[in-house]
Amino acid sequence: MPGLPMYPYLAVDQFLQTLLGTRALASALELGVIDVLADEASSAPALAARLRLDGNGCLLLTELLRHAGMLEQHGDALALSDAFRAALAFRDLMEAKIAFSTLLLPDLVQGLTALVADPPAFLARSRALALFRYDRALDTAADNLADTERWLRLTTVLTRYEAAPLLDRLPLGGHFRLLDIGGNSGELARQALARHPQLRAVVADLPAVCALGRRHLAQAPERARIEFLAGDALTAPLPTDCDLVCFKSMLHDWPEAQARTLLSRAVAALRPGGRVVIFERRRLEQLAAPPAFGQLPVLLFAGFYRTADFYVQTLTGLGLMGIEAEVVELDLPFMLVTAHKPTAGAAAPHRQG
Ligand SMILES: C[S@@+](CC[C@H](N)C(=O)[O-])C[C@H]1O[C@@H](n2cnc3c(N)ncnc32)[C@H](O)[C@@H]1O
Repeated sequence: MPGLPMYPYLAVDQFLQTLLGTRALASALELGVIDVLADEASSAPALAARLRLDGNGCLLLTELLRHAGMLEQHGDALALSDAFRAALAFRDLMEAKIAFSTLLLPDLVQGLTALVADPPAFLARSRALALFRYDRALDTAADNLADTERWLRLTTVLTRYEAAPLLDRLPLGGHFRLLDIGGNSGELARQALARHPQLRAVVADLPAVCALGRRHLAQAPERARIEFLAGDALTAPLPTDCDLVCFKSMLHDWPEAQARTLLSRAVAALRPGGRVVIFERRRLEQLAAPPAFGQLPVLLFAGFYRTADFYVQTLTGLGLMGIEAEVVELDLPFMLVTAHKPTAGAAAPHRQG
């Protein structure tokens, strides 16, 4: 869509290019180096003395940061570069990407060969899959909540930023009830409702996720308009009077058969005239630029991403109309697929199958 802004949060990846630069940044954030330099320029020895760091270690760290473009040398003093200072406005995203990529580093080191040659063997050993334990989100026992919270923190931060590119493309003025399936902590619903005061939302997700989502939104002004529906979206009853059903970064988790079931349940939840929206990462084809180390999670999950064809065919088969698919270039490409359920009397297209 022409005229939409480049999203400023995308600037963080430029400082997560390499493993060394990313880990240097992680240490600098952890040790307070970035906080000190955000306030005032300082020489490396003065920084070491102030933060009680080893002098040589501090010099190594600041050199890594300087070569990664985060610091600039002005005489004796080191200062944050303007570009890094701008990216630091998204510190939560930076920290989430650092944490997520670092967690998956063993998957890259020990698993890349298997990912290419034997994906099931890769998956069996993957740290990523060990993190996203949906089976531990089926109840709200304290240890399951703690395990679920580890990944929910990451998905919530990612959605805090990925919601805008989706919502900027959705004119929701005429919608009243959103169902977000796999809606996680409710962050997308919250942002949709903040933009559209007439909208109410149901966030359908697993029990531990819903419990943490209620906590996440406890202080949000939109909270009273958001209902959490805890259960398995493949089998649990869903509302039947929604005019918008959304799947964000959800369907790629599922093999085609279950993805079709979820879509058909979404269509059943829609009033005639209502809309289905799918927003998720698209299969990687030619990369426009070398990917950053901070994009490692996306690269390791790449085998799960689809092109729009599967969704377009499935929605056509379910009788939906006005199906549109567009690629949305963010850090790496996303796709947005939208369609609407025919109103009574509208000619439904020929159903497949
Ligand atoms: C990759 S996350 C995406 C979350 C969120 N939509 C986002 O964009 O950040 C997939 C979501 O689907 C939820 N989920 C997994 N299995 C589910 C099921 N059977 N029923 C409902 N939600 C499920 C997970 O708990 C998680 O919140």
